[in-house]
Amino acid sequence: MIRVQVPATSANLGPGFDCLGMALELYNIVEMIPASRGLVIEVSGESAADIPRDERNLVFQAAQRVFGNTGFSPPGLKLRLINQIPAARGLGSSTAAVVGGVVAANLLSGGKLGVKDMINLASSIEGHPDNVAPAILGGIVVSVQMDGEVKCLKIQPPQGLKGVVAVPDFPLATRTAREILPSQVPFQDAVFNLGRVALLVAALQQGDLSLLGPAMEDRLHQSLRSSLIPGLKKVLAAAKLAGARGVTLSGAGPAVIAFADSNFDLIARVMSDTFRQNGVKSRVMVLKPSP
Ligand code: HSE
Repeated sequence: MIRVQVPATSANLGPGFDCLGMALELYNIVEMIPASRGLVIEVSGESAADIPRDERNLVFQAAQRVFGNTGFSPPGLKLRLINQIPAARGLGSSTAAVVGGVVAANLLSGGKLGVKDMINLASSIEGHPDNVAPAILGGIVVSVQMDGEVKCLKIQPPQGLKGVVAVPDFPLATRTAREILPSQVPFQDAVFNLGRVALLVAALQQGDLSLLGPAMEDRLHQSLRSSLIPGLKKVLAAAKLAGARGVTLSGAGPAVIAFADSNFDLIARVMSDTFRQNGVKSRVMVLKPSP
């Protein structure tokens, strides 16, 4: 039996749309067992009732891509999925399924694909690399897809930094949150984000938490997505007032992640209270970066 554990990921980190992400200490487990025939999928944990148990299952589909590439394919397969990552909330649950399928199937095939091959394959399935790269490499990763190949570099998260995550009780499909984005943006907004993302990478690299607030500002996606997430702007502002170093929509949302090195409980309470005042029930988690 192959058993792999894949971390949750928070993509974008504000201005780094489709190119920055962080792995978090919250995991989905994929167990893959070759069988003589058929497909059996057992799911437990987060959103278990909503996850397909047939060929539509993402872990299975990703595994099939690996078997297609490596030429090894068991006659049947049993998958046991034990999930902790909330589904469709902006914490990389679909990436965890894809990466879990790719890594487990590769191990079952004798490890023919290298780490880069797995990042390339999983990113091509996902369409963007910013969740996939940290899900495979851990830590914070800068990743860029170029001609089907992902170039990426890992940054060690600053000491003591944790993510306070408020997870609304409604799902938001990434497709929906991407459909509302424009095909063109004003030049000034592109320049705004370029400066912030460069500052953010340098601040993370040097462990300068004092710059996270301004460096996590964004003008490419967050404001447009706020129409899909009641109270988003107020939650961002409230987390900062409560002592967060930086705060941003997590991936495509609807979860919000505040980065802090103290005041975790206060920030968590304020985020959840502010969501509630805007009619949104949420639960909060304080998560360390996954190494
Ligand atoms: N970068 C992606 C987005 C992450 O914001 O749409 C979501 O998976």
